[in-house]
Amino acid sequence: MDTAAPSSAPMSAPTKHAKLLAWVDEIAKLTKPAKIHWCDGSQAEYDLCQKQLIDAGIGIPLDQTKRPGCVLFRSDPSDVARVEDRTYIAARSKDEAGPTNNWIDPVALKQTMLDLYDGCMAGRTLYVIPFSMGPIGSPISKIGIELSDSPYVVMNMRIMTRIGSAVLKQLGDTGEFVPCLHSVGAPLKPGEVDIKWPCAPIEKKYIAHFPEERTIWSYGSGYGGNALLGKKCFALRIASVQARDEGWLAEHMLILALTSPENKTYYVAAAFPSACGKTNLAMMHPAIPGWKVRTVGDDIAWMRIGADGRLYAVNPEAGFFGVAPGTSKKSNPNALTTCEKNTIFTNTVLTSDGDVWWEDMGVPPPAHGTDWEGKPWTPDSGRKGAHANARFTAPASQCPVIDPEWENPAGVPISAFLFGGRRPATIPLVNEALSWEHGVFLGSATGSETTAANIGAVGVIRRDPFAMLPFCGYNMGDYFAHWLKIGAALRAKAPATMPKVFFVNWFRKSRDGKFLWPGYGDNARVLKYVVERVEGKDVGVKTPVGIIPKPGAIDVSGLNLPAGAIEELTRVDTAGWKQEVDGVAEFYAKFGNRLPAALKAELDGLRQRLG
Ligand code: OXD
Ligand code: MN
Repeated sequence: MDTAAPSSAPMSAPTKHAKLLAWVDEIAKLTKPAKIHWCDGSQAEYDLCQKQLIDAGIGIPLDQTKRPGCVLFRSDPSDVARVEDRTYIAARSKDEAGPTNNWIDPVALKQTMLDLYDGCMAGRTLYVIPFSMGPIGSPISKIGIELSDSPYVVMNMRIMTRIGSAVLKQLGDTGEFVPCLHSVGAPLKPGEVDIKWPCAPIEKKYIAHFPEERTIWSYGSGYGGNALLGKKCFALRIASVQARDEGWLAEHMLILALTSPENKTYYVAAAFPSACGKTNLAMMHPAIPGWKVRTVGDDIAWMRIGADGRLYAVNPEAGFFGVAPGTSKKSNPNALTTCEKNTIFTNTVLTSDGDVWWEDMGVPPPAHGTDWEGKPWTPDSGRKGAHANARFTAPASQCPVIDPEWENPAGVPISAFLFGGRRPATIPLVNEALSWEHGVFLGSATGSETTAANIGAVGVIRRDPFAMLPFCGYNMGDYFAHWLKIGAALRAKAPATMPKVFFVNWFRKSRDGKFLWPGYGDNARVLKYVVERVEGKDVGVKTPVGIIPKPGAIDVSGLNLPAGAIEELTRVDTAGWKQEVDGVAEFYAKFGNRLPAALKAELDGLRQRLG
């Protein structure tokens, strides 16, 4: 529904929710849009946004026989990824935000941002996007309202979340919602023609979270997690604060279902730092016969303790915002199928026959194309055609291996957690925690070797506890304590079904620098071992660092591993672990007295066991 004047919003809006109406009115008065549109979430509305963007030369329609319902966008070169150094946790005190977050004084930040928001939607439409994170009406789900001046955001939010009238109905007249304000920060003067990708310069971009108020203010970026506020901003940063206060978990984890040849299904949640292949693992084609993997989610898990004392997870999202480069028939055939239709591509190559292409797609590059910056491109032009963070936004329902339970409002019961990272040395292929507390220790020590894609020195371990470093909305020391508390609650209710915790490492290298493990579909061999351990099989051996596979416990049939590889992958490298202990101790020192005593005890215990 469009309304001519912002101040008329309360009269014509499709809700009687007084708090929501007052907020929309307040923001409209501040940002001064030309129009307000309340999103109903329909296909017609999506199509209209797409048409408007295509007519304006902003969206590029793809060949509809090759990619039905698909469109390509090219972002501004200054607006291509999440901006971690412009992302703030504006808690009341710096200590609340903790040593791993960018803290900023909320009062000062609000003043700065109010000045930026003043008139920032001039000439644009303010879209009111009611959205549900999680199946509408599930007791695990939560509602947000994003106010945005970007139709590209509306389209993406419709794929990534559940939006529109059904959400407003669920919200009712008094329901709770998280207010999420977003502007690209590029007001239009009367008669001014819009540019292709409006955004603000980097120093004016702010991705701000007010955890005590459970509010998000984002300004200046139209890209990904900076702008699709349901994802990292709400479902992780704000939700982690809600989860702490309400006794549940909001985690940067994929959720997969693993079915054994005996037709038993186990759900596993796994946390890996960005760029470690979470989407690939979530949709994997197992390389071992008889085993099946199904996808519940590829990025975020919300989990609550059920009446039976088990931990139940939902994927709060409804789509995949996947990194395109590197997605191939080999790495992730199911993702390729998922984005064959009804998909938004951003910053890929456009081929001369109206299709998309990216590096390491596993198909020959086009002889001629247009790169992500809109320049003519050929494979021998000496530069990459797609941006390294080019993305596809695709409906989860289109994934050929989506789990039948993926929208079950009750969630799926989690049997095991995996943590992992890129660790070229020391860390075994799979290491099972000796207890929940030891598992929290392993999760807190998660880290990945920096690569050329990270800022900073190459080859250094960047600690990324629980893969939540950029996503935890409060002091990480308290977050560790929260995980310990959840463990205690699970143990008190149903100790026999507590999820087991494993640390996996697909990236261990030989002394001559070669990967020892093939990865991809062969990771199912490790998942099979995990299931055997969940079933209580005697296939692991207790060591000072955790429980590792007994010789022969990992099924390597049909694999051509180099001689000695599996022994090396499961070896306890005592000297390396002593260095690891020092590295973790150094990291832990940051948290001062917010570090739970139980984790200090785990570190000391490990040091002692190593001798
Ligand atoms: C993501 C990330 O985009 O973790 O999911 O960076
Ligand atoms: Mn992620």
